[in-house]
Amino acid sequence: MSVFPKDFLWGGATAANQVEGAWNEDGRGPALTDVTTGGSVKERRKVTYIDKDGNHCRMSKFDKLPEGAHYAVLPECYYPNHIGVDQYHRYKEDIALFAEMGFKTYRMSISWSRLFPNGTEDEPNRKGVEHYRKVFEELRKYNIEPLVTIWHFDTPLYLEEHCGGWANRKTIDYYLHFAETCFREYKGLVHYWLTFNEINNTMPDSFFNPNATDETYQEACTILHYQLVASAKAVQIGHAIDRTNMIGNMICGICYYSLTCDPQDILLNEHQWQKKIYYCGDVQCKGEYGTYAKKLWEDHHVTLDITEDDLVDLKKGTVDMYTFSYYMSQSVTTHTDVERTAGNMSAGVKNPYLTYSDWGWSTDPDGLQYYLEKIYDRYRKPMIIVENGLGAYDTVEADGSIHDPYRIDYYRAHIKAMARAIEAGVDLRGYTTWGCIDVVSAGTGEMRKRYGFIYVDMDDAGQGTLNRSRKDSFYWYKKVIASNGEDLD
Ligand code: BG6
Repeated sequence: MSVFPKDFLWGGATAANQVEGAWNEDGRGPALTDVTTGGSVKERRKVTYIDKDGNHCRMSKFDKLPEGAHYAVLPECYYPNHIGVDQYHRYKEDIALFAEMGFKTYRMSISWSRLFPNGTEDEPNRKGVEHYRKVFEELRKYNIEPLVTIWHFDTPLYLEEHCGGWANRKTIDYYLHFAETCFREYKGLVHYWLTFNEINNTMPDSFFNPNATDETYQEACTILHYQLVASAKAVQIGHAIDRTNMIGNMICGICYYSLTCDPQDILLNEHQWQKKIYYCGDVQCKGEYGTYAKKLWEDHHVTLDITEDDLVDLKKGTVDMYTFSYYMSQSVTTHTDVERTAGNMSAGVKNPYLTYSDWGWSTDPDGLQYYLEKIYDRYRKPMIIVENGLGAYDTVEADGSIHDPYRIDYYRAHIKAMARAIEAGVDLRGYTTWGCIDVVSAGTGEMRKRYGFIYVDMDDAGQGTLNRSRKDSFYWYKKVIASNGEDLD
């Protein structure tokens, strides 16, 4: 007998900006991802703009737009998100392939600027609204439950450039208008919602950078506070519109370990969990900041604009379920004589017990079990793993087949870890693998960092037919779903 509940939500996940393409069609406005170039594990993606003297320039996505400059699509640059994998036009074909694998759910996001091109309009762009209605209807045709992320790293560019983005409290209202429109328009079609993708990853430059300045902390904590308030208010609106809505948070779930048993390392690791995992999780699940948050603000001289109403909203807007992405664990230490790794999102101390992907991400299924057990015990809320997967190079054979045993091995080990966590009492309700179809990498902008069961013929320079084909893992996952997680061979 399978340990997975009989209505377990097996499926896959993507995000609008990484799959849709059609970046300027049918009234869609641009998002920051549309002025972000491709990159690689060694060369970071760049955001492009024109400065006050008319020069074409590039900067890191964490830098601020200089005075007098404006974001711009430059003719000499390639922007992979403009094409994505063209799912805007090919959603029927993709959904049919998901259905062939037996998906019970498909996690996707709604592009904010497809509904509200600038983010500030009163009325939504009807073409955008109708597009997603058709997508949800197509999913329902196959009994695939949509699991919808409202915000997946794609604030409209206009809000970023002209309204101060998330550093401005007013953006909460714009976001809520967008979220409410989604809840109303898709009532009855969508029941599972996530308010913000990887909310704890919003400002990596402070929370993930040991050398961040107090000023960066001030900005990061402000942005996070506004997003946490927006999330809590969205939960309340979503429940008021449809009591049956299941609304979750979404945390970038890295599992942290202490590299040694030096008590200093143990403390450092605990503080790492507080800062990077519990900070947002506690607010979204318990309705208030943890005590350590106040210490963090004090240490970095952060003064937050927290109103009495905010505190009430945070309390009232706790989520129904805890969802998270899980790719890797990371180790921390106070010691300096240690081996280090390099990679996007993963630079840190090397754990000698683990292997690392070509992008420097550790493979650690036990870390997933540990994370599930630890977090379930903390919040006692239903959980869904909404991202997990291996970014790898795939080779297309002469006959068109794609053999990806490394991906199958990765998933097999993680599904076994999930089963162990369920046996240990965790209320795990679903699993959506990341990039069930190849997507543009968020971190590096590459196509060759592939996650999919479905291969997309497209390279890093935008060359390819965009044709879809099934990898070996496609057939394997189909068996896994059909056996409700029992047949992992
Ligand atoms: C998560 C994001 O951080 O990781 C996804 O929610 C992203 O958008 C995924 O694609 C994998 O990261 P990357 O950099 O390999 O695309």
